[in-house]
Amino acid sequence: MAKKIKTVFICQQCGYESAKWMGQCICGAWNTMLEEKVIEVIENDRRSRSSAAKGQRVKASKLSEVKSGNFTRIDTGIGELNRVLGGGIVRGSLTLISGEPGIGKSTIIIQAAANIAQRYGKVLYVSGEESEEQIKMRADRVCNVIPENLFLLAETNMDNINAVVEELEPAFLIIDSIQTMYSPDIDSAPGSVSQVRTCGNELMRMGKVKSIPVFIVAHVTKNGELAGPKIVEHLVDCVLNFVGERNQELRILRAFKNRFGTTSEIGAFEMAEEGLVEIENLSKSFLEGMDDGAEGSIATAIYEGTRPLLLEVQALAAPTNIGFARRTAIGVELSRLNMILAVLDRKAGLSLINQDIYVNVVGGLKPEGTSMDLAVALAIHSTYKRVSCGSGTIALGEIGLTGDLRSVQNAEKIVKEAVRMGFKKIILPKKNADKLDDISKSIKLIGVKNLQEAINAYVADFTQL
Ligand SMILES: Nc1ncnc2c1ncn2[C@@H]1O[C@H](COP(=O)(O)OP(=O)(O)OP(=O)(O)O)[C@@H](O)[C@H]1O
Ligand SMILES: [Mg+2]
Ligand SMILES: [Zn+2]
Repeated sequence: MAKKIKTVFICQQCGYESAKWMGQCICGAWNTMLEEKVIEVIENDRRSRSSAAKGQRVKASKLSEVKSGNFTRIDTGIGELNRVLGGGIVRGSLTLISGEPGIGKSTIIIQAAANIAQRYGKVLYVSGEESEEQIKMRADRVCNVIPENLFLLAETNMDNINAVVEELEPAFLIIDSIQTMYSPDIDSAPGSVSQVRTCGNELMRMGKVKSIPVFIVAHVTKNGELAGPKIVEHLVDCVLNFVGERNQELRILRAFKNRFGTTSEIGAFEMAEEGLVEIENLSKSFLEGMDDGAEGSIATAIYEGTRPLLLEVQALAAPTNIGFARRTAIGVELSRLNMILAVLDRKAGLSLINQDIYVNVVGGLKPEGTSMDLAVALAIHSTYKRVSCGSGTIALGEIGLTGDLRSVQNAEKIVKEAVRMGFKKIILPKKNADKLDDISKSIKLIGVKNLQEAINAYVADFTQL
């Protein structure tokens, strides 16, 4: 096949290709166009290929007759990782694991690699970032035993990696990281769009041909996006993202994309001396530091994947000094907070126009659903009115624009989790409460129809005490 080397300008942020240099890319980014050389198949060659294809008979299959393959999954020996992947690593699949520097990507991978090497055979860990000694030091720290079958390769040239894979035939392949790898066929620097795309394609080919699952580590930029190429995201089967506050020990693993499972599961770990330790009782570790009964603090619940999770919402209202009132939210979207503030104003008569409002979902999680709405509203009400939300209280429900409370899904499981964690009182949408009438004697269900009723309920309860 005849090939031609072509020079193009590629946006390092979105991957957009252009024949000419531009100061601003169509994605809006400035100064992101870099000159790169790409291989192009020459036009008349393409034509001859398509006419060759005419000679062969290509046939479509009936979907009903296609054999449904049962994915064989590899157990990583790490329950939380298996859960996020949908039950383990599927053979032949490509998984991208991304996260900020120092979050623990290499750590979780070496732990999984050691487990897999012990159970399934040879594992090849290719590192372009660290020397063999550095990796050994980490492995000594975090792995109980270092299995015979765990192989290391400090290499960045894809051709050499390919040769080693051909020879070793590993059961599992790890590339740490894609941004350091390069294909000698292409001129551009490692980490550039065309390099990452070529290496990604090459890794996919290696994985699919030999049915080897491949884990690829990728760095993210400051604002959480994959450094460089979105292209790899489309190429791979799963994209996992590792997040956490670097100065706290909690680390959350979440799937952004998963061709073999849901994306709503999360895995929780704690970074410790002996590596990443799975957290089994996540609600407990989220609620650990909660000052129960403090003003502006209330517990709430979300449903992540297949399990309920309890966490604390805190709010603080302070008089605005000059200019506009500030709204600051961590873990809640600012637009959602503004909506809740508007509903509090119009439907509960709580004007906060001259108040700075801060809201924090403790633990660094950014839950997606709306079941925290009521807790956010009550925490704000509680801090402003300087009344406690009452100890052992939990609130959940979605707030509508009319101030009504919408029911939440999986309420039964959430209530059971609240009982297990020792909560005494739960304020929830009436529709949910009616269905769960006598779920447990140890918790009091307070069903409310709207925001005002919820406020009345927690304030009344507090004044009774
Ligand atoms: N002895 C130790 N005890 C506890 N935690 C440690 C110890 N040594 C390292 N760590 C933790 O491990 C983290 C580094 O983990 P790791 O190298 O797996 O991160 P990474 O995501 O691969 O980073 P990079 O992007 O630089 O490759 C450190 O930030 C630190 O929190
Ligand atoms: Mg690393
Ligand atoms: Zn762009």
